[in-house]
Amino acid sequence: MPKITPRSLSTNSHLPFGDMQNSPFYGLDIITVKQFDREQLTYIFEVAHEMYEMVLRVGSFDLLKGKILANLFYQPSTRTSSSYTSAMERLGGSVIPINNVSYSSVTKGESLPDTIRTLEAYADVIVLRHPEVGSSALAAKYAKKPIINAGDGIGEHPTQALLDLFTIQEELGRVDGLTITMMGDLKYGRTVHSLARLLSLYNVRLYYVSPENLCIPAEIQDEIAAKGIPQEYLTDLMSVLPETDVLYVTRVQQEYFEDPDQHEALKGSYMITTETMTRAKNEMILMHPMPRVWEIDMAVDDDPRAAYFRQMEYGQYIRMALLAMVLGKA
Ligand code: CP
Repeated sequence: MPKITPRSLSTNSHLPFGDMQNSPFYGLDIITVKQFDREQLTYIFEVAHEMYEMVLRVGSFDLLKGKILANLFYQPSTRTSSSYTSAMERLGGSVIPINNVSYSSVTKGESLPDTIRTLEAYADVIVLRHPEVGSSALAAKYAKKPIINAGDGIGEHPTQALLDLFTIQEELGRVDGLTITMMGDLKYGRTVHSLARLLSLYNVRLYYVSPENLCIPAEIQDEIAAKGIPQEYLTDLMSVLPETDVLYVTRVQQEYFEDPDQHEALKGSYMITTETMTRAKNEMILMHPMPRVWEIDMAVDDDPRAAYFRQMEYGQYIRMALLAMVLGKA
């Protein structure tokens, strides 16, 4: 059910945006990728592309002038937090940055619902990253203003998946018909969980490459199988690399290994090098939600197929689109 936000300020009439408070996105929470269908994704990507063009032309503009975003992060972030700040400021709005809750009243024992109800007294939209699965859904239950999930533990990171899919669309011009290989920590990687679900709306083939103890959860595989998407699990990349159109690499999270030697041993087989890239298609793109640790050798960065820095920039346009949409301006 859309939430009601105060009436928006008027915008410049020459912009391809304006007050659209009857839009289905106005006042919406963004909690999970499961809430989107293909038609909505197409629309979000069209708005994100418009944002890209506007930034190219004018840098920033006053679509959200007078609007305030609360950026509430209970876990570390570089990209998500900064790209929301940048998105809001490019749209003429302002940001309450709470990037380190240890300096907030959370350390005095304040609950998540109370923190959310406090921030919505000052802000029009709240972006939340929290270590617990379901935290954004809980926040949305208490909030009258839109909540955007910026990562809830090992659950989902829906706006990362939107920017990942937008990257694929912008770089390769399509999603249907592609073979996407996801490699790394597929068990705890929330970006992979969200992206695999979104991709299941398209006609794709999915390969999962990971150590056996970091395989993608069965629950997600079942959801995707129910949509008739072909998927296969492997421990080695090389047999599927030549047919891969998108290689999506994630960090193998050292913190989940009991035996540090086992983590060390993985580096050889799960690291992308310039030699690995010689076995990939010329048109393949290499993606990573970042941060990377050792999974992609820095020597690969100069390869035009390395899309991970462009991927971050696409995130800014997706987040501009989402902020404008939930605030009734696109
Ligand atoms: N991709 C991503 O979520 O990066 P941050 O943790 O830096 O926000």
